[in-house]
Amino acid sequence: MSEAQLNLLYLLAAALFIFGLKGLTHPRTAVRGNVIGACGMLIAVVVTLVDQGLLRAELIFLGLVLGAVIGMLLALRIRMTAMPQLVGLFNGFGGAASVLVAGAVFITAVQAIAGAAGGGSDGAAVEVAMQESIATAASGLIGAVTFFGSLVAFAKLQGLVSEAPLRYRGEQLVKIVLLGASLAAAVMIVRSPVDTEIYWALVAVAGLLGILLVMPIGGADMPIVIALLNSYSGLAAAATGFVLSNTVLIVAGSLVGASGIILTQIMCKAMNRSLPNVLFGGVGAVIETAEQDDVYAGKVKQTSAEEVAMLLKTSRRVAFVPGYGMAVARAQTAVRMLTEALEHDGVTVEFGIHPVAGRMPGHMNVLLAEERISYDKLREMDAINPAFPQTDVVIVLGANDVVNPRARESSGNPIAGMPILNVDQARTVVVIKRSLSPGFAGIANPLFAADNTLMLFGDGKKAMESLVEAYKEA
Ligand code: TAP
Repeated sequence: MSEAQLNLLYLLAAALFIFGLKGLTHPRTAVRGNVIGACGMLIAVVVTLVDQGLLRAELIFLGLVLGAVIGMLLALRIRMTAMPQLVGLFNGFGGAASVLVAGAVFITAVQAIAGAAGGGSDGAAVEVAMQESIATAASGLIGAVTFFGSLVAFAKLQGLVSEAPLRYRGEQLVKIVLLGASLAAAVMIVRSPVDTEIYWALVAVAGLLGILLVMPIGGADMPIVIALLNSYSGLAAAATGFVLSNTVLIVAGSLVGASGIILTQIMCKAMNRSLPNVLFGGVGAVIETAEQDDVYAGKVKQTSAEEVAMLLKTSRRVAFVPGYGMAVARAQTAVRMLTEALEHDGVTVEFGIHPVAGRMPGHMNVLLAEERISYDKLREMDAINPAFPQTDVVIVLGANDVVNPRARESSGNPIAGMPILNVDQARTVVVIKRSLSPGFAGIANPLFAADNTLMLFGDGKKAMESLVEAYKEA
């Protein structure tokens, strides 16, 4: 294959990645976007194998079948709520691949230089090695932070280690020292690329840094960390692309790096938190219990499925606001059933989707899409907020922080300043959850004690199922 053909095919793959990403920006085009991106990756992999003289049809076929089987098994077996840790693990593998590939190329280059020096050194060869070594150092450092950091993120979300932030005295100093040591090792690799052991020392120190960077972050903040590590894995891949002089790897890595950081920013903004607050704030450690009695004492009104069904029978406009609890309870099927029953009676049904409802971006959209609930009914915060005063009943299902009026305070609590769904402006609010326990932010919610709020206590799925039954019988 000529250089021109190779670059043309790489350009095609890069264009497919970009169109794929564009498709992923909307639920309606996401599946197509995914397929387009996968086609780009297939072209990139096959073209690289052909270019490297590794074209053996049976090997490529075997790889495709193996990859497809593993991918399908994972996709079918993993629960939606476990998706963040799966993505975290994938990021980690990306980081590890960058470390190993860049390391292997570096070792080969160092051996070549040693050989050349034995037979009379060549300045150009040393120069090339120096350029490679800059990319190698970046790849090793970022790749190791990504791999080990992702393993901790996975372990926290999978419950293998405590989700609580691990804080200790002098924590920031330890991280600064480790970062300094990693950078010193990187400089040594660049300045005298003759010693391969320093590369593995860099990987070890950066790996420890990755572990210590993620350990002090609470489990519920892990999706943001995973988006950030996703960005890092892209940067490591781009650096490896420079090591290998492989343009498509540079382009793909840069796209992953940029989209990961944009996603991180979107999540931080939606929570009204800064990235340093997520990374170093240790949020998720404290749950205020004393103040809960003040907020709720004597003001909470409990209701029953039958009473809510009667309310729904006299409603013209109903909105669902799902949250993390709907995902945990897997209550979306019952939500779809109640939606169908309501619409059958001519009731307008909408869904208010907060950008950080649940524990990962698009969490609620995916669960509702699984039930084939039309995207047209899904309203973003800014679109549905003006409609709440005209809504007869809002059913808040397993959501808490995203509807907490305390977010309207300017400071003094973890969600202060976060934009919320103004469900308290609806005529009646029905909150379905198991208890008065707080959500991720760990604070009481005055909505549960509001005059127009009724609490339907119970597991989200069971409560919704009894509501469907009561509605059909009413
Ligand atoms: P949360 O505020 O975390 O509240 C979820 C509620 O669900 C809990 O109060 C819990 O109350 C209830 N629940 C749990 N299991 C349930 C079950 N089986 N049946 C019924 N209810 C159940 O959730 P939210 O309103 O979706 O807000 C999300 C929070 O996570 C925000 O603070 C956000 O900043 C944070 N966060 C989001 C993301 C992304 S990207 N989405 C990433 C990181 C952090 P009970 O225990 O009383 O049932």
